[in-house]
Amino acid sequence: MDFELKTLSPSLAAGLVVDALLVLVPDTVATAKADPLNELVASAIRLGDLESSVGKTLVCYQAAGFKATRVVLVRAGSGGAANVRKAVAAGVAQLKLPNVKKLGLLLSLLPDDGHAVRAAMQACADATYMYTTTKPSAKARALQRVTVGVGKAAAVQDEFNIGKAQIVGVEFAKEWANRPANHATPSMLAEAARKLGRKPNIRTEVLGPKQVEALAMGAFLAVAKGSVEPLRFIVMHYAGGEKGVAPVVLVGKGITFDTGGISIKPAAEMDEMKFDMGGAASVLGTFAALAELQPAVNVVGVIPACENMPDGQAVKPGDVVTSMSGQTIEILNTDAEGRLILCDALTYAARLKPHSVVDIATLTGACVIALGGVRSGLFSGRDDLADALFKAGETALDPCWRMPLDDEYGEGLKSNFADMGNVAGRAGGAITAAKFLQKFATDLPWAHLDIAGTAWKSGAAKGSTGRPVPLLLQYVLDVAAAPPRAGANAPKPVRRKR
Ligand code: BES
Ligand code: MN
Ligand code: ZN
Repeated sequence: MDFELKTLSPSLAAGLVVDALLVLVPDTVATAKADPLNELVASAIRLGDLESSVGKTLVCYQAAGFKATRVVLVRAGSGGAANVRKAVAAGVAQLKLPNVKKLGLLLSLLPDDGHAVRAAMQACADATYMYTTTKPSAKARALQRVTVGVGKAAAVQDEFNIGKAQIVGVEFAKEWANRPANHATPSMLAEAARKLGRKPNIRTEVLGPKQVEALAMGAFLAVAKGSVEPLRFIVMHYAGGEKGVAPVVLVGKGITFDTGGISIKPAAEMDEMKFDMGGAASVLGTFAALAELQPAVNVVGVIPACENMPDGQAVKPGDVVTSMSGQTIEILNTDAEGRLILCDALTYAARLKPHSVVDIATLTGACVIALGGVRSGLFSGRDDLADALFKAGETALDPCWRMPLDDEYGEGLKSNFADMGNVAGRAGGAITAAKFLQKFATDLPWAHLDIAGTAWKSGAAKGSTGRPVPLLLQYVLDVAAAPPRAGANAPKPVRRKR
């Protein structure tokens, strides 16, 4: 699907040659020149056929004065980004027809179309996305070209460029997360990362079991032991900034299937544990977006990838392993495997002398209970980093919510047989998981995103959401745009308007 940005006043919109024109109508429409669009909107409202709540639509066929075959009016309330997303989703839902290949997306009636561009583009992509890789009978997206019409194209060009890159990233993440585990093994993820490594400014390294053993990643190795699929440790470097400038490090949990191991999960919905590499998918997706956008910033992606399987050789409850940090861990529950692969990845990340380290993981069912599918869990001991990630989530409409990390939450991790256990009690499970990770991030500007509730949807709409690619991309762009911190080895500003 191609996007194009065009200066398109309301009066010119009627002349746009497209299969369908989706017009976002705010609560207050700046008045009334005598052109086909203004007349259509005014009479639809006057006659009561376009109700006022956000997402209400009116489909008009071969409307007088329009070149577009179909004109859909959709209510966008105040015109804020969240309303725009809802409106476009509702409008595009009316237009999922095989004959709608060219779509006009008219934002120029809105009070501030710059704020609407990215949200409108992403909503349009989300509403037409279709997974087809292992379902050839699925109807692939019919939409080929979307013309985004705004008051002044030059003023929103940056937002448009970010929108395009974000969609590439989100769709890359969705594709890999949606693939079943036999079509997305650790080796296949590594292959996808290698392929991204051919794009400008990206380089990919892939380590196998031997090299991971040499690094002494005892916790990661313990999880991978139960599977015949060999583990992969993927490291991607995006070098858009100056050499030597400290990178943002993104660490993604890449459990390509989580059976729970010997602490095996119940059968119901176990298929959804193919999504347990959602963190890894979001890192790959962010790199796909960076490849498009080429911002001036350095980013390293780190993905420990393996399966968590029960087996004669699998790690057993009570086994004690030595992590790369030297700290020993009593593996009381083999289903708490995410933290085991991440802790070694965090120790590895420290070597990169990072600007900041953000791990992204479908880590706990407890986070789903705490925050549901709306906000990801955000954990960090650093207020500046937590604030930056929170803000990025708000800007990108990919929100998170900060959770506590009081030391008392870590008490349940004590063990009589190792430096720590890998689980505490049931209470506060998302937080105790984060406290475990924090033991490996001492001295690092570290944050953790628990995306267990937000990375995919269950039920009839089962599928990856591509989250939190929008948040991560925004965070990286914010780092690129920030003035270097005094005395710190921080990135230089980038040409970009906010
Ligand atoms: N991948 C799961 C977390 C998960 C569960 C995400 C359900 C989304 C939905 C993780 O590896 C896991 O199994 N966590 C355990 C931890 C427990 C054993 C302390 C959990 O949440 O039950
Ligand atoms: Mn698990
Ligand atoms: Zn898991």
